[in-house]
Amino acid sequence: MEFLETVQQRRSIKSYQPDKEISDAELKELMQEVVLSPSSFNLQHWTFIAARDTDLREKIKAAAWGQEQVGTCSVLLVICGKLNAHQDAPEIYQGVAQGIQDKVLPLIKGFYDGKEQLQRDEAIRSASLAAMTLMLAAQNRGWATVPMIGFDPEAVSQLVNLEPNYIPVMLMAVGFKKEDPRPRDYRRPIEEVFKINTLDGPGLKG
Ligand SMILES: Cc1cc2nc3c(=O)[nH]c(=O)nc-3n(C[C@H](O)[C@H](O)[C@H](O)COP(=O)(O)O)c2cc1C
Repeated sequence: MEFLETVQQRRSIKSYQPDKEISDAELKELMQEVVLSPSSFNLQHWTFIAARDTDLREKIKAAAWGQEQVGTCSVLLVICGKLNAHQDAPEIYQGVAQGIQDKVLPLIKGFYDGKEQLQRDEAIRSASLAAMTLMLAAQNRGWATVPMIGFDPEAVSQLVNLEPNYIPVMLMAVGFKKEDPRPRDYRRPIEEVFKINTLDGPGLKG
């Protein structure tokens, strides 16, 4: 699929063909693209949990306001963010030249240590960027997706055994659409959402 087509055709799909499967091998191929997403200091705060078990899926659905797509998609993912990902820096940078490690590792430590809000922001940013890659990589295969924050984070954390240093950033349904969604909803005009220099600056010319 052409990139422009992929972007234009991606929609949040809520109606899925429940009998269609996505194999582990297919998911692995998808994930090889997803993990190419950017993250601050390459800390890769993301972890993806596929709820393959039917009973688990039903429980997550109950914790997600009963949203139908949670039960009917081919794969339901809990996309998680690691709050203390900065502590993984020595492992992530171990293959890098010693001179770079000596500079970057103290920088990362000083930047994140003790800053809970920043750690959380980063976990959400990285996981969200990876989620966007996932939606586009899925769309490129002709698969449908919908990201979801309509769920009880504590209940979902418990259901998938998240440790306290992880948060569930969003759920993601992946599968095959049953019917087309309604026409795309309103998008704010570019003049409103893109400004030059300052928030009260002009928009783009032309
Ligand atoms: C962070 C985030 C959370 C969302 N949560 C839900 C959700 O819980 N349930 C749902 O049906 N759609 C959810 N959506 C989908 C949005 O409603 C959808 O992206 C938006 O209406 C634009 O439609 P489009 O994705 O088809 O362009 C979410 C989207 C985002 C980005």
